[in-house]
Amino acid sequence: DTIYVLNGPNLNLLGMREPEIYGSDTLDDIAGMLEDRARELGVEVDVRQTNHEGHLVDWLHEAQAEGAKAVLLNAGAYTHTSIALLDAIRAVRTPVIEVHLSDPKTREPFRHLSYVGMAAVQTVEGLGARSYIVALEAAAKL
Ligand code: DQA
Repeated sequence: DTIYVLNGPNLNLLGMREPEIYGSDTLDDIAGMLEDRARELGVEVDVRQTNHEGHLVDWLHEAQAEGAKAVLLNAGAYTHTSIALLDAIRAVRTPVIEVHLSDPKTREPFRHLSYVGMAAVQTVEGLGARSYIVALEAAAKL
């Protein structure tokens, strides 16, 4: 079983980007942790990042076409703006779990609305890099 882990804009800069909010782990570090945990859980992860909204839409379609078990989606700021992502999540049968390092609900008001959250089966946020691990554990159980 493969679980897609899709990361949106600016997450390629994790580790250097506002570490007081997002922590010091890089996306490669997180990918390594996910691969270790995936092995223990008997699943595979496919970790990707893009700064382009449409790529996330394409990858959601691909997840369904390829029969992925689930998608973990940290859409970055597109979380709060993208009706296209909301529609894509609704368009596929593949379950999507929303992931955030920080807790957007405790930050600026413009982060309180989540289009991704309107369609995701679950949200894991505010745990730093551990948000991804907790989301992976939830996905493996689906
Ligand atoms: C984020 C939260 C978003 O509000 C922000 O735009 C990000 C990262 C998180 O993981 O905490 O880019 O998705």
